Amino acid sequence: MNGADSQKEIVHYYADADEAARLRQGWFRLEHARTQELILRHLPPSPAVVIDAGGGAGVYACWLAARGYEVHLLDPVPKHVEQARAASALQPEHPLASAEVGDARRLTQGDSSADAVLLLGPLYHLIEKEDRLRCLREAHRVLRPGGIVWGAAISRFASLFDSLSSGFFADPAFAPIVARDLEDGQHRNPTDNPIYFTDAYFHKPGELSREFLSAEFKVLELVGIEGPGWLARDFDRLWNDPTQRERLLAAVRKIEKEPSVLGATSHLMAIGRK
Ligand SMILES: C[S@@+](CC[C@H](N)C(=O)[O-])C[C@H]1O[C@@H](n2cnc3c(N)ncnc32)[C@H](O)[C@@H]1O
Repeated sequence: MNGADSQKEIVHYYADADEAARLRQGWFRLEHARTQELILRHLPPSPAVVIDAGGGAGVYACWLAARGYEVHLLDPVPKHVEQARAASALQPEHPLASAEVGDARRLTQGDSSADAVLLLGPLYHLIEKEDRLRCLREAHRVLRPGGIVWGAAISRFASLFDSLSSGFFADPAFAPIVARDLEDGQHRNPTDNPIYFTDAYFHKPGELSREFLSAEFKVLELVGIEGPGWLARDFDRLWNDPTQRERLLAAVRKIEKEPSVLGATSHLMAIGRK
C-alpha cells in the first residue's frame, strides 16, 4: 500500500470509529488517565508550545489548552479536526491555538519552535519504519533543545492478549491476523470487522526505544501505559470504585518499567528529550 492509499484507509477506518468518545469508555479510561499522568510527569510549566500530531478529536489537546498551553493539533482525518475544533469552541477561554488537517511526517512548524510534541497515534498507524523515523525526525526538528516528545505504540502482543480476554481468539478470521502480528508486527485486517482495527504496526518495547534513538532523542522513559490493567475481567467495577481505581493505578505505575511484563500492555509509551 502506498502512502496515499494508507491515508485513505485511515480516513475510512475512522469514519465509523468514535474517537471523541473512546477515552470515556471501558479500559480506555485507564489509557486516558495514565497518558495524562505520563504527559504531566515531563511537561514543562505553562505557558509552553505543544504540538499534538495525530491529536484525533482533541481530547489531550483541549485538556492541555485548558491548562494554559499553546496547543497546535494536526490530524490527517478531517472528521477528527472538525471534532477538535468543536471541542475547542466549548472552552472559549482556552481554545486550541490551531487545529488543521496534516501529517506528522511533514510538520508545518519552524525549527526549534515547540517545547513538547505528542505522537499518540502516528507511530502505530505508520506501517513502514522509514515513515515512523521521518515522523520522529520531524518532532526532533520542531522541538527546542531540551524539548520533550511522547510517542505511543501498540504492543506486539496486544492482539493476542485482547483476543484471549475478549473471546475472539477462536475466530478463524482473526487467526491469521494475530499470527502475522506475532511474526513481524505488521497488523493487517482484511475483514470488514472494525473490532480487528486497521492496518498498523505493533512494536516490541525495545524497537520503540531504538526508533527514538535513531531520531537522536535521549530516551527518558519506556513504560507500559495500561500495563496488564486493561485485561481486568471486571474493569468497570474496579474503575468505578475510587479505592480500587487507585489500587489499580498504583499497581500499573509500580510495574510500568518492569522488563518481564512490558509487552503485556496494550500501549507502550516512550518519552524522549532532544
Ligand atoms: C487512536 S487515534 C488517537 C488519537 C489521540 N492522539 C489519542 O491518543 O486519543 C490515532 C490518531 O492518529 C492519527 N494519525 C494516523 N496517521 C497519522 C499521521 N501520519 N500523522 C498524524 N496523525 C496520524 C489518526 O488519524 C488518529 O486520529
